Amino acid sequence: MSSEGSNSHVRALHGVSVLRVGHVERWTIDREEARNAFDRGTMESLGELARAADTDPEVRAVVITGAGTKAFCAGADLKERKGLTHDETRALLDLYRVTAGRIDRLSKPVIAAINGVALGGGLELALACDLRVADAHASVGLTEVSLGIIPGAGGTQRLTRVVGAAKAKELILFAQRVTAHEAASLGIVHRVAGDEGAVALAMQLATQLAQSAPIALGAALAAIDGAADGTLDDGLDLERRCYERALLSADRDEALRAFAEKRPPRFLGR
Ligand code: COA
Repeated sequence: MSSEGSNSHVRALHGVSVLRVGHVERWTIDREEARNAFDRGTMESLGELARAADTDPEVRAVVITGAGTKAFCAGADLKERKGLTHDETRALLDLYRVTAGRIDRLSKPVIAAINGVALGGGLELALACDLRVADAHASVGLTEVSLGIIPGAGGTQRLTRVVGAAKAKELILFAQRVTAHEAASLGIVHRVAGDEGAVALAMQLATQLAQSAPIALGAALAAIDGAADGTLDDGLDLERRCYERALLSADRDEALRAFAEKRPPRFLGR
């Protein structure tokens, strides 16, 4: 049991500690001595957690953060990278794609609590999340070209979808680091936390989302995630298919009953 209440429990995987509070799961990259840079094992842990959370009805929202106060995540472990062959690096890039994809496509909302620097793969990880909140002292950037490489965990694609090609080019080509407030003004960060801190804010938002209707949340995420692909008509067809999932759910009937009975709905994820 953790000190955060009888409703919570903790466990640890390689590079990641996991806290479950009610229906919210918090994944903390636990490599503070390396500013939470992820090695291969840490990425594998995150991928495994995303796979498990997707099908676990007890998990309704996820928060990802980093240990300590200095870093959310300093990106790929550059010490590990130094000793790798080109083929081993390619295999790592494949792993990043699969893991970020699992987080991105998770049927539950995922919130990045950016509690310090999020650089390179650290920002790419945050961009795979649905929502991002940051501490005021945090800064973010896709700084890979300063290392002679380019973003390799989806950053060129996901940042461009968030800020548009023109701004993405400026940020990536100049390897710019921006403050949390600048990131918020660009739409990269949804909210900058006040005194409560990014982790507490993210947990609060996740708890709020965990009380919402899980099937409706998943359907909305799938419809929004598909919006960037194809024509408007393709998107409207997708929205209709996603709506169908919510339409057929018992939670939708419960919401209508609760409205008629003037009481809050109790959503069961069915
Ligand atoms: N991979 C491996 N180790 C890393 C790391 C990374 N990406 N980022 C930081 N570390 C390690 C440092 O090597 C150092 O280890 P040491 O104590 O053995 O020397 C430790 O973390 C602390 O780093 P330090 O630079 O002293 O801390 P800081 O708080 O002053 O600065 C950063 C933190 C993250 C701003 C800085 O370390 C940095 O710029 N790291 C590189 C980030 C980057 O370019 N990421 C993109 C990768 S794709």
